[in-house]
Amino acid sequence: MSIDTLRAQYEAYPYPARNPADEKKRLITGSPSHLDEVNHFVFGGRLDHGKPLSVLVAGGGTGDGTIMIAQQMADAGNPGRVTYLDLSDAARAVAEARGKARGLTNIDFRRGSLLELDGLGPFDYIDCCGVLHHLDDPSAGLRSLAGALKPGGGIGLMVYAPYGRTGVYQMQAALRTITDDLPLNEKVALAKRLIGHLPRSNWLLNNPFIGDHKQADADLYDLLLHSCDRPYTVAELADLAASGGLAVAALMEPYRYEPSVWIKDPRLLKRLEELTWLERAAWVEQVTGAMTKHIAYLVRPQDVEGAVARPDGPEVVPVLRDLDGAALAKGLPPGGVLEAELMGAVIPLPLPRLAGPILARVDGRTTLGDIHRAVAEKAGALSWEAFLAQFTQLFTALNGVGKMYLRRS
Ligand SMILES: C[S@@+](CC[C@H](N)C(=O)[O-])C[C@H]1O[C@@H](n2cnc3c(N)ncnc32)[C@H](O)[C@@H]1O
Repeated sequence: MSIDTLRAQYEAYPYPARNPADEKKRLITGSPSHLDEVNHFVFGGRLDHGKPLSVLVAGGGTGDGTIMIAQQMADAGNPGRVTYLDLSDAARAVAEARGKARGLTNIDFRRGSLLELDGLGPFDYIDCCGVLHHLDDPSAGLRSLAGALKPGGGIGLMVYAPYGRTGVYQMQAALRTITDDLPLNEKVALAKRLIGHLPRSNWLLNNPFIGDHKQADADLYDLLLHSCDRPYTVAELADLAASGGLAVAALMEPYRYEPSVWIKDPRLLKRLEELTWLERAAWVEQVTGAMTKHIAYLVRPQDVEGAVARPDGPEVVPVLRDLDGAALAKGLPPGGVLEAELMGAVIPLPLPRLAGPILARVDGRTTLGDIHRAVAEKAGALSWEAFLAQFTQLFTALNGVGKMYLRRS
């Protein structure tokens, strides 16, 4: 597969389909590259927004990751810049129009290949979402990105995963047989026709985790007609990271990969105790069968230890994502349970006795030390250790489903 074939697809079908006018209505957020998430899982919560953060979005497409992180950096007052890079002029035009619609001035838009970064960077953080699995040599792609990373920097990666995409690869092969010599628009027409005539036994029809073929033509093309698409298991992802001289610091969201979230039998769980966290994650992937993609933060092996923030001191500040702590606290009885949706399942999150009083004070600015003092004033004698045990249970549950991060004040 040549880079020209890849470019031709994304010139015809910029991905994902986006209308710049929608920027007036909403900001699309996601993972990787949500700024609070990056701070938590790459920089141990130590990002100082007074210092410029340099970001590369490699294979930026129509701009989702670029616009999100550039907007969040602007909102945080970070004077850094975001470099957007893509092969496709059509995709870049959409991303540029989105940036303009928001009045963002901290993005440099470039056309080019992530395989030839000469002169670009170095960067503190690189986003590469849904790109490497489309390259002939994903490892060469990752090595190129790793070579543009500053010391202490990290990469937010998304690659497809095989088991949750059951049916996709059979359909790609079947469509290749009957559409190989056709122009792109005729491929799309034939794919739609085949979807309309599939027998009930077809795995795509039976896969509840895949719906992109029901969206815009760009989504259908990316899912079923891509010229190059190879998925990664957790173990293969770890090997890919190592081939770029990097290591997996974290997988999003942590509870998707946590055995005890999915399997309740203590005897079975005991059998997993000797495994590394990545081996346990690989096991969960095999058992759930629901993972369509992996979102990973990669850092250099020597940086893994300090990459992920921990609730370990009074100067730590908890930050909620898309939640209002005070509002959440109102309806929460002592020892109540919250529910979260993960991979199509509803997960109960049992909370500690003081979850309500703690959450009421989580506003993204107040430190754990100050929250402890305020809660102790109301709840009576409460040692730092007892408070930290309560907070850690709350944090583990909310962080597990991507709703709470930490930063250092
Ligand atoms: C599936 S899209 C993902 C877009 C975006 N990262 C997102 O997640 O919304 C893949 C993008 O990677 C770009 N791309 C593929 N190979 C590339 C390369 N070698 N260098 C730069 N961009 C590339 C394509 O043009 C396309 O826009």
